[in-house]
Amino acid sequence: MKKDDIYSQYREKVADFVFDEKVVSVFDDMIRRSVPGYATVIAMSKVFAEHYAQENSNCYDLGCSLGATTLAMRKGINKKNCRIVAVDNSPAMIERCRQIIDSDVSDVPVDVVLEDIAALKMQNASIVAMNFTLQFFSPDKREDLLGRIYNSMLPGGAMLLSEKIKFGDDDEQDFQTDMYHHFKQLNGYTGLEVSQKRKALENVLVPDTIEQHFKRLKDAGFDKCYLWFRCFNFVSIAAFKK
Ligand SMILES: C[S@@+](CC[C@H](N)C(=O)[O-])C[C@H]1O[C@@H](n2cnc3c(N)ncnc32)[C@H](O)[C@@H]1O
Repeated sequence: MKKDDIYSQYREKVADFVFDEKVVSVFDDMIRRSVPGYATVIAMSKVFAEHYAQENSNCYDLGCSLGATTLAMRKGINKKNCRIVAVDNSPAMIERCRQIIDSDVSDVPVDVVLEDIAALKMQNASIVAMNFTLQFFSPDKREDLLGRIYNSMLPGGAMLLSEKIKFGDDDEQDFQTDMYHHFKQLNGYTGLEVSQKRKALENVLVPDTIEQHFKRLKDAGFDKCYLWFRCFNFVSIAAFKK
């Protein structure tokens, strides 16, 4: 695994973060050292797939990056005739994701698709996983996307939504951010790396509060939504269609 040192040198001007070749080459290390609970969320995607994948259905991994969620779901799926559709709009991510999926042996077929999820046609879905991706999607289009996801799902379907969140209470926001930055520094990032990465993500990663997430999911039609994982300012929600 190549070490992420992208923001280790001082930059006069920090450009907006993009999922390009440079990020792809260190992505595995970057996400594991930057997202508290990432390994748990990915591992539990297998458990969700085992429990909620339905026969003759599609399982979506939206914002698949290098396919970590896809691989976990692939291991968990035990129903007949399921297909995983892994989608990302970064050509560099998709190219590397295809290689990784091709080298994984399984009976569950995977379509690795280069597409913006804003334009993706989804149907017959028993599981939709969107791990740490909605936060990068235009805030004004999030409601519409959630509605389209809900409409694409089968009765009994489950959505797994994992996100970085913000807090309505300023003191809590400060506390959770502080703990998060300590977490990153304990994982080997310097103060300079943390602050430059934060600047790069400022206009790119736009978090919502947990209340906004629950309201949007309910408005989209999801009947039940549960917070099943949280670590500092990162959460994962399970949302269900009756
Ligand atoms: C933090 S990564 C997701 C990590 C991945 N789900 C995992 O669990 O390893 C966010 C991904 O979402 C993708 N992405 C962002 N906006 C997108 C969009 N509108 N359509 C498709 N993919 C998008 C990025 O290219 C990036 O690979």
